[in-house]
Amino acid sequence: MPYAAITGWGTALPHRILTNQDLEQMVETSDEWIVSRTGIRERHIVSGGESSTSLGAGAARAALAKAGLDAGELDLIVVATATPDDFLVSQACLIQAELGASGGAFDVGAACAGFVTALSVASQFVTGGTYKRVLVVGVDTLTRYIDYQDRGTCILFGDGAGAVVLEATEESRGLLSTVLGADGNGHKHLYVPGRTKYVANSARLVPESAAIFAEESPYMKMNGREVFKFAVQAMGDSAVEAVAKVGLSFDDIDMLIPHQANLRIIDAAARRLDLPREKVWVNIDRFGNTSAASVPIALAEAANAGALKEGANVVLVAFGAGLAWAAGVVRWGVAGVERHAAQASEPVAASATPV
Ligand code: ACO
Repeated sequence: MPYAAITGWGTALPHRILTNQDLEQMVETSDEWIVSRTGIRERHIVSGGESSTSLGAGAARAALAKAGLDAGELDLIVVATATPDDFLVSQACLIQAELGASGGAFDVGAACAGFVTALSVASQFVTGGTYKRVLVVGVDTLTRYIDYQDRGTCILFGDGAGAVVLEATEESRGLLSTVLGADGNGHKHLYVPGRTKYVANSARLVPESAAIFAEESPYMKMNGREVFKFAVQAMGDSAVEAVAKVGLSFDDIDMLIPHQANLRIIDAAARRLDLPREKVWVNIDRFGNTSAASVPIALAEAANAGALKEGANVVLVAFGAGLAWAAGVVRWGVAGVERHAAQASEPVAASATPV
């Protein structure tokens, strides 16, 4: 049975940067409060013509370039997002059109746990022998649904995209274990009203209509404390389970790539795996919570920094609205992928692709 090696990775970020100092001018908050409670200093947010499509396609192009593949060689595109640009057309189809690719294209919805969930779905098409080359994109533009008068949410989120290319190999590479979970009863702790709400006395589902604006704010609602408690538990438990499933001990883990939601949540997950800080990839200070893009952006950054060597064991773990969670162990590298034979004998190291 083949494995699904990650042979390419890339990111795309909006141009506009929103700093904690900018937020101090918008709501009653302070840089000191935000940094000490979350670890965030700044985040990128969409403006102008930027969208989930433009960011997702940008990350995909970078990942394809790294893999040395043309978009036309892809068999399938799987996109994790909670913020598609169209309500009806999948984000994957919109990105496929931008890339000029063909083959299958569909979305996976698991909010911030979306990329790890999509990676597990996509990997199965490769390990099951159905497809050889699959693009997985995590993209979100959640700031479009944030109330910039609500200091409980507006300090946390940023926008962005990350992507990886999966290719078949006979060597044990790629996602080796998966843990998925959800507690649907927790949906009330984190949601965006309006987009999927039935208007009273109507059979129609009206997105973002004036009626909904009048009735209830259409922006994200979050019970931060509940989400925090859940996240600490879910991230720790699922990461531990993903490591156990693949028969490894914590000592065998070379890097933890956690969802970047709050530095205190990341630290709690690292403690559960008994990992020192240098084995935990943290970039929340620069990007905030980019939802489904968070894990692939961090993964690409770690790869570009040369922090992931051929054969490294990497734990991915994420949680989000749903409430849902996802974790997995990835064995990094391209061993066994013929086109990458030369690269496989070298550590997969830093490259010129900027993050
Ligand atoms: N600036 C200053 N003060 C603030 C701010 C702010 N931005 N936000 C809240 N406060 C105040 C509160 O009003 C409260 O004041 P009070 O004690 O007078 O009532 C005080 O600070 C403490 O508030 P808490 O909500 O208890 O603060 P907490 O330490 O829990 O931090 C936070 C809040 C950062 C939101 C935290 O709960 C958290 O990170 N939760 C997880 C959120 C998360 O990860 N969501 C994303 C999920 S992923 C997805 O799917 C999108």
